[in-house]
Amino acid sequence: MKPKNFYITTAIDYANGKPHLGHAYEKVLTDVVARFRRLKGDTVHFLTGLDEHGQKVQQTARKLGIEPQELCDEAARDFQSLCRDLKISNNDYIRTTEERHKVVVRSLLQKLWDEGQIYEAEYEGFYSTRAEQFLQEKDKVNGAWPEEFGEVVEISEKNYFFRLSNYQDWLVEFLREREDFIFPRYRQKDVLEFLKEPINDLCISRPKERLEWGIPLPFDEEYVTYVWFDALTNYISAVGYGEERFAENWPVDFHVIGKDIMIPPHAVYWPIMLKACGIEPPKHLLVHGWWLKSGSKMAKSTGNIVNPLDLIEQFGPDAFRYFVTREMNVGQDSDFSLDLFMSRYNSDLANDFGNLVSRALNMSQRYLKGVMPTDPVIKEEEQTLRDDWETTCREALELFEGMQFHSGLERVFQFVRGLNRYAEQRTPWKRAKSEDPEDQALVSTCLFHMVEGIRLSALLLSPVIPGTAEKVGNLLGENLVAQWGDDLSWSDRLAGREIGKPVILFPRPKPNEAP
Ligand code: MSP
Repeated sequence: MKPKNFYITTAIDYANGKPHLGHAYEKVLTDVVARFRRLKGDTVHFLTGLDEHGQKVQQTARKLGIEPQELCDEAARDFQSLCRDLKISNNDYIRTTEERHKVVVRSLLQKLWDEGQIYEAEYEGFYSTRAEQFLQEKDKVNGAWPEEFGEVVEISEKNYFFRLSNYQDWLVEFLREREDFIFPRYRQKDVLEFLKEPINDLCISRPKERLEWGIPLPFDEEYVTYVWFDALTNYISAVGYGEERFAENWPVDFHVIGKDIMIPPHAVYWPIMLKACGIEPPKHLLVHGWWLKSGSKMAKSTGNIVNPLDLIEQFGPDAFRYFVTREMNVGQDSDFSLDLFMSRYNSDLANDFGNLVSRALNMSQRYLKGVMPTDPVIKEEEQTLRDDWETTCREALELFEGMQFHSGLERVFQFVRGLNRYAEQRTPWKRAKSEDPEDQALVSTCLFHMVEGIRLSALLLSPVIPGTAEKVGNLLGENLVAQWGDDLSWSDRLAGREIGKPVILFPRPKPNEAP
């Protein structure tokens, strides 16, 4: 049998809105993990998609005088073009209005209904139209409904409920046993804390008169499925639940999500839904923090959206990907600032890395006619550089493996700065003027080491800046995106190789073009 794929997903974005920095970040983070795994030799299945049903989509479409499907198609175009612009390497894109998805949602509901795990009851109480969920007195803060719930109305209606509470003890036990279920681990404590209070059964239906835009319940067509029950199921419908191929991907390795949708949907509803259906739980949730602007979450409802497409268009996908991965400590929040973006762009990318590449290639052309020497000498400085690479590589890989991408990147850039310092020490531009054969040999040696250092750094950076790694690879006659393993050790593989002419990888914006 084929080994199981490394299966990773993002949350599926609400169709009722435009892509923003939060969406872009989640995709980049997931892509970095996916590419890192691929490079380590795993076969990866990477899924992202669009959450299309629900009241908000229905309302917005009505306001615009269009069909909800039309609104969703437009959103799908926007979100898919964001993926392309960011060089996201997803293998599949699921939309919850697709037949392959609806079939699975309905089959799960039917199964749960047949087994008596879903029952009918009269519901009386509060309902948030914005959150599309039922509320209780205990959800009030200082006697009032928090703003995130929007308008809260009192309703009384017949609905269908899933026996969530039957599984509370199982879930607590599961979380205690699987201590690494949620990354970062401290978030798992939040879930256990939440589970100290009894949980209610989950209302999984909405009457059609209130909400039409959804998947009809298979056992009562007057009702549609509650959006979370619908949306969560995408993770299995997309990989062929019910078919033999399902085992190629399930159980999922990581669901990457923001902290706002951990409790209760991903950490409570989802493992319980799966358990109730006799499906294995996910291996891990990777829960990231929020991008904030002056302390508040960047999202549609607060209006302070930075359109990531602007920065991507102006500076390229790699600059954007590098910035968000370098700045965000996965799990925590991070403040977005244009100044910080510009300073990372100018100092890390344009200066430390970009300049290093153009200097090394420039001098290689000028002093070596673009051909790497076959007999570099290795003195103390060169040995130090090689040793430094070994440590860098080991430490950075460990950090990447532990989702500490911001520190891993910093570690690689320390090495890049070290390469620049090495060049300053060796001063090939001065030695090139000398006739002394020892000086000449050191010019070759220095450029050889600079270029090999560049090859290795680009390879290690390739999950984050794949476009740049590819460009550098083309200049060096190497595939720096798809190779891994032995290639990460210092080598003489470039000896005798003709390398390309210098290019500017990260052009500095002209003063009048700065954002
Ligand atoms: N449709 C649901 C998810 C269903 S998953 C079965 C949803 N959609 S969303 O469009 O609101 O959010 C999509 C993802 O983006 C979520 O993981 C959310 O946490 C993340 N972000 C939205 N705003 C964010 C920030 N400001 N910062 C970082 N990520 C945030 O929730």
